[in-house]
Amino acid sequence: MKARVAVFVSGGGTNLQAIIDASLRGEIPSAEIALVASNKSDAYALERAKKHGIKTVVCERLPGEKRDDLECRFLNAVHSARIDLIVLAGFMMILSKNFIASFPGKIINVHPALIPSFCGKGFYGLKVHEAALEKGVKVSGATVHYVNEIPDGGEIIAQKAVDVLDGDTPEILQKRVMEEAEWILFPRAVEMVSKSIIESKEAE
Ligand code: GAR
Repeated sequence: MKARVAVFVSGGGTNLQAIIDASLRGEIPSAEIALVASNKSDAYALERAKKHGIKTVVCERLPGEKRDDLECRFLNAVHSARIDLIVLAGFMMILSKNFIASFPGKIINVHPALIPSFCGKGFYGLKVHEAALEKGVKVSGATVHYVNEIPDGGEIIAQKAVDVLDGDTPEILQKRVMEEAEWILFPRAVEMVSKSIIESKEAE
């Protein structure tokens, strides 16, 4: 048995790619990527999914559409694909309490800093690295955590530190954090959480 995973994306999808590659290397035996869902129709992550024959769905906010209705479309896609675990990989939309409550303990996220530093509302993508450099920290990194109703506030699953070096720009630091932390930690966390989901299903 494998956990059916949906990866939610908004952008380039290098973390999605890291998960796909790890899966192809046999490093995520407990999971199957059953769906890639995006709130942006031009997300390059969708091309990465298609290249690997993974089903994709786009739920873009329509003019005047309520957030609840948009979330409802994501939820329908997830339910019809019989998803066990939602993986947020550069998904730039904060999910509502209601959405999270319908998947308790079954949503994980990667954040490009060592939580509780540089996290929460407004800290996403390059902004996180800009804030880290502004503060002058000498170490940053990445965190994989469960998603709860507090942005970046759920239980921490894994963290990895990365050095900040003299002369770093936000882009250089982002690349180092991705290469040395995110792309390693996230696939491992997907395997770990999927394995425990399967184990608890089998014990039912
Ligand atoms: C990654 O660095 C991810 O940690 C970050 O956005 C980037 C997405 O890159 N996510 C957040 O900031 C969420 N708060 P990717 O599309 O290439 O995986």
